[in-house]
Amino acid sequence: MAAVVHLEDIHKIYDSGEVQVHAVRGVSLEFSKGEFMAVMGASGSGKSTLMNTLGCLDRPTRGRYLLDGVDVGQLDRNQLADLRNEKLGFVFQGFNLLSRTTALENVELPMLYGPHRPSAREMQERALRCLDIVGLSDRADHFPSQLSGGQQQRVAIARALVNHPQVLLADEPTGNLDSKTAIDVMGVFQRLNDQGITIVMVTHELDIARFCKRNLIMRDGRVVSDIAVPDRLVAEVELRRLQDAETAAKLTA
Ligand SMILES: Nc1ncnc2c1ncn2[C@@H]1O[C@H](COP(=O)(O)OP(=O)(O)OP(=O)(O)O)[C@@H](O)[C@H]1O
Ligand SMILES: [Mg+2]
Repeated sequence: MAAVVHLEDIHKIYDSGEVQVHAVRGVSLEFSKGEFMAVMGASGSGKSTLMNTLGCLDRPTRGRYLLDGVDVGQLDRNQLADLRNEKLGFVFQGFNLLSRTTALENVELPMLYGPHRPSAREMQERALRCLDIVGLSDRADHFPSQLSGGQQQRVAIARALVNHPQVLLADEPTGNLDSKTAIDVMGVFQRLNDQGITIVMVTHELDIARFCKRNLIMRDGRVVSDIAVPDRLVAEVELRRLQDAETAAKLTA
């Protein structure tokens, strides 16, 4: 099967005149549909730079990137924006929701920018379906300030799903969440991955990376480890275990 992502000797050098930073130094990677990968590594090791390349937000200085068979380096700005909109979904650490806009309208947003804008009715139906997937159809009319952190992140995931992306890219999506809420959000990712969506996420936490299928570790711009996770945690089971432990603690208190 053809790879969804194919990176060949990718380099990124930031050149701000006086200093040059070689942030990514020859990364070659491949992953196919259904991958669920955690990208780890120390601060400054190049994780976000690599994610920005994968997300077509920034061009590599050198190397080749094929996204779903399309050579990204051959595209102009507009073609790149269309490709991004069609094939990729983004989730960020800080949720990045518009504060004066309801959950539903936030999820509708990416459909406004595509080359084929659906009718208002279809946009609403699709947004509602995605809110339903993340378990928030009853919060469609709520504003971000009326939602918990975990709920806001689930709205952001619904927004990332609304254009049916091939790949979901998430840079520290659980970074602002407490550990129980983080596991809950990992459960949403696991369910989406079970349905065939390819996911790449950056995380600093080994506890979170263990919910993924594959772990990549970067150091100084290079991939130094790339392993399948042998005893992957299942978020739903893990949450139940935590709840049972809490209940047991209360009973014996
Ligand atoms: N726009 C930029 N201009 C110049 N240098 C940059 C730029 N963005 C990142 N860098 C440098 O590139 C290197 C890699 O940065 P990157 O943001 O990819 O690291 P990271 O692994 O995501 O770190 P963190 O875990 O702190 O988010 C760092 O040394 C950083 O200072
Ligand atoms: Mg980063």
